[in-house]
Amino acid sequence: MSDITRREFIHFMSRSTAAAATLPWILECAHKAVRPVGPTLPFTPIKASTEDALVLADGFNFEVILRWRQPLNKKGELFGFNNDYIAFLPLSPLDPNEGLMWVNHEYHDPYYVSGWRPGTPRTTEQFNKERKEVGGSIVHMRKYEGRWQIVADSQFNRRLDAYTPIPLISERPILGHRVALGTMGNCAGGVTPWGTVLTCEENYENFVGEAIYKDGKRTLVDGDDYLSWTKGVKLPPEHYGWVVEVNLKSGKAKKLCALGRFAHECATCSVAPDGRVVVYSGDDAQDEHLYKFISRRKGSLEEGELYVADIKRGRWLPLNRREDERLKKAFTDHTDMMIRAREAAKIVGATPLDRPEDIEIDPLSGHIFVALTNNKKGGNYFGSILKIMEKNNNPLSLHFDSATFMAGGPETGFACPDNMVFDKKGNLWLATDISGSAMKEDPYKPFGNNGLFYVPLDGARAGVAVQVASAPNGAEFTGPCFAPDGKTLFLSVQHPGERAHFRENMRSSWPGGGTSEPAPCVVAVSGAAMESLLN
Ligand code: FEO
Ligand code: CA
Ligand code: CA
Repeated sequence: MSDITRREFIHFMSRSTAAAATLPWILECAHKAVRPVGPTLPFTPIKASTEDALVLADGFNFEVILRWRQPLNKKGELFGFNNDYIAFLPLSPLDPNEGLMWVNHEYHDPYYVSGWRPGTPRTTEQFNKERKEVGGSIVHMRKYEGRWQIVADSQFNRRLDAYTPIPLISERPILGHRVALGTMGNCAGGVTPWGTVLTCEENYENFVGEAIYKDGKRTLVDGDDYLSWTKGVKLPPEHYGWVVEVNLKSGKAKKLCALGRFAHECATCSVAPDGRVVVYSGDDAQDEHLYKFISRRKGSLEEGELYVADIKRGRWLPLNRREDERLKKAFTDHTDMMIRAREAAKIVGATPLDRPEDIEIDPLSGHIFVALTNNKKGGNYFGSILKIMEKNNNPLSLHFDSATFMAGGPETGFACPDNMVFDKKGNLWLATDISGSAMKEDPYKPFGNNGLFYVPLDGARAGVAVQVASAPNGAEFTGPCFAPDGKTLFLSVQHPGERAHFRENMRSSWPGGGTSEPAPCVVAVSGAAMESLLN
């Protein structure tokens, strides 16, 4: 990328002061030498591990800063289960040591949460417990005497869960409602340039089932028996699968139906030269698609145009019912098309992908990195990272080039890339998600537990992943997010010991050890090696 283009990119990525506050290293990159990684790393990478521990390379350390069931406020609300995406927004741009943290709670594990066992009916109490564990937490955090801690009973501390009423921002009511009950399946997300958080409803059908539309009829199918609430409560599936925008100061949320309904993994924002916002989002399912939304106005994602990627021809295909007879015929109105966005994508010829998960934008090149976790149906077990390069580096462009940035496998040392984050020097951190049922089995045996990898983007080590951390048994690292100092990495440790079903199957006791039950936690990773990499 030329210097001029790079300056322009950094300019539009930092047009608003809110964006500057939330993405501090993007501004910093404009002034500093970036991406240098010397001939020797400041740490020795670890090897794949099968230990029930959070193993870190020498020179890194971690501290648990939030933990499942940690009290949040005087109302008795607790930090939820299976924490995933993390966003951190400083309360003041002048104070990097205090801010509001958003944490997704993707799903519940009944064994730990409600005591429900497969093959038995769920009691009302069990439904209620499970529905309280999902959604997200807003947590006021402060760094005090060198440690990140919750500000107890702060007015900002609150929960969103599967009971929270959330308005549906759509052209018309959805199944007669303008308000949905709750949010769930909250996987990854994004931060808007105006400092709100986007939380993505991914595998909603596990909880509420799915509505199938065929030949003018709507049929309901049940969710996954382990997670499903369909036998206790009838929640319309069409009220879920959206991107939800949350104001962390007020706790107010809204579902942005203009971004389409599918298994949204994330919602990654970029600002166009004219101030409109572009949101990239993957549909994490085998052979599903990559989407991009262009807002109609600055400062709002309530209206705009949705596009889907044709990777082979390098085109963003519009899902525009007004101008496409095929879409006009298939859907009764725009809201119908947004509800059934997957069907619309197929009608216009979107490219099937290998489970598009997290998306991050390289702060230096402007290239869009898309984690394609795997596609076992298509024989792709290890996944890859796809790089999208918008024409003229303009996020409004409807043409792009693409290339595989790196592929997982025994040669590269990682498998199933999922969550990513760029550090303040423009290098990539990558977390893997080998599913719990496949971990330690062929072909995943060589990779051990899930890991966290560092990938320099420049110099002799460019594109070579080195392992920094290994997760406890059954767990996955999710939600990597740098603190405002750029040298502390907040990281979720999600689903340690998942789906144990019975105590004798419990494969993890992290973080307590011994005979204790495992607990999903947020940790802060720092240390001399991190300082050395990011100074
Ligand atoms: Fe919730 Fe696609 O990971
Ligand atoms: Ca994920
Ligand atoms: Ca995943």
